[in-house]
Amino acid sequence: MNKSKKGVFDRTIPYNDLPELPIADEIIDKDILLQWGLSSRALAALNKNIMRIPNPLMLVNTISLQEAQSSTAIENIFTTEDELYKAISDQTKEELANPATKEVLRYREALWGGYGALQKKKTFDKSVAVKIFQQIKNTRQGIRSPQSQVVIKRGQSEFRAGEIIYTPPRGAGIIEKKIDNLFAFLNQEKGLDPLLKMVIAHYQFEAIHPFIDGNGRTGRILNLLYLVDQKLLTHPVLYLSKYIIHHKDDYYYHLAGVTQRGMWKPWILFMLKAVEGTAEQSNQKIDEILAQMAITYQYANAKIKWYSYELNQALFSQPYIKQKLVGEITGAKSRTTLTKYMLQLTELGILSSQTDGREVYYINNDLIRILEG
Ligand SMILES: Nc1ncnc2c1ncn2[C@@H]1O[C@H](COP(=O)(O)OP(=O)(O)OP(=O)(O)O)[C@@H](O)[C@H]1O
Ligand SMILES: [Mg+2]
Repeated sequence: MNKSKKGVFDRTIPYNDLPELPIADEIIDKDILLQWGLSSRALAALNKNIMRIPNPLMLVNTISLQEAQSSTAIENIFTTEDELYKAISDQTKEELANPATKEVLRYREALWGGYGALQKKKTFDKSVAVKIFQQIKNTRQGIRSPQSQVVIKRGQSEFRAGEIIYTPPRGAGIIEKKIDNLFAFLNQEKGLDPLLKMVIAHYQFEAIHPFIDGNGRTGRILNLLYLVDQKLLTHPVLYLSKYIIHHKDDYYYHLAGVTQRGMWKPWILFMLKAVEGTAEQSNQKIDEILAQMAITYQYANAKIKWYSYELNQALFSQPYIKQKLVGEITGAKSRTTLTKYMLQLTELGILSSQTDGREVYYINNDLIRILEG
């Protein structure tokens, strides 16, 4: 039991009484349904907008990269955006990346790995969660063992740092039982709309805290993959982590609110608003990219006779571009021609060059500005 004599929730005792899903029907009231409508609408608009981009997968990559970066930033793993962009633009750079960058890249791989597994297997079950966790933490471990003393503590930079804020369930078979219940809830055909299920399940997943570490990141990837699984999104693009980081105190507060006071409603509203706000922001980004692409095309096409629509698409498919790619698309016959082409592109300010050791990169600053904004 987690209640002390005074009826206060004891955060240092494993919460084995965590109720299983579903939650009571009455919780889903008019306010929640109103917000659910707004969030669903924004999400549907995003799902349509992604299709306007010629190569959505590349965009997903950069967005998921930023998601990865901000997500891991919760844990204070700092890594420069510059290094990250290079790493995703070039496989060989990926191997040379520093440990912090690697950790961030692992997040992206976990997202794509889970996405790939889901496309093949088509069942959203606990093995998807385990796979994500293993990729994020670069481990072969699975669900944590019954004796592991996992607790959630306040962060080092916070007031009352190190204090225990929550102790997840513990004991033989307990985590497995709750996780099975959670996935049964998610896969139940009847009942709530998937968006509401995702929001409820995200609390439950974090409260179960099935892994030694990485539960936040694994949980956030699961959110996206579930939306894909339920066909609310065709690609896992939803920038949720950024919102969560900007509202981290609220996020933690509402999670604790469900546990300690059964406050489901504020939690559900918080998460639905996160979905709405994030979807709207992503939509804006997509619109900005498309607008910039059109303007760049017009500008370059008027000044360079070998500039093509195809090249324009390629220059907006990733922020760091290699000369080789431009050579392939333009069919430049010689090295001299290609060098001349690259010079023209940089002189017009379409790209700017940057050397990194022996390698020269070409950067689409307009694209970076939009992605980082
Ligand atoms: N009171 C709470 N009850 C349940 N879950 C919580 C509570 N407070 C925080 N959490 C969850 O625990 C996560 C942190 O757990 P963990 O360190 O295993 O994940 P992480 O992926 O390493 O970190 P992060 O989420 O900070 O990137 C938070 O992201 C949050 O989702
Ligand atoms: Mg952690």
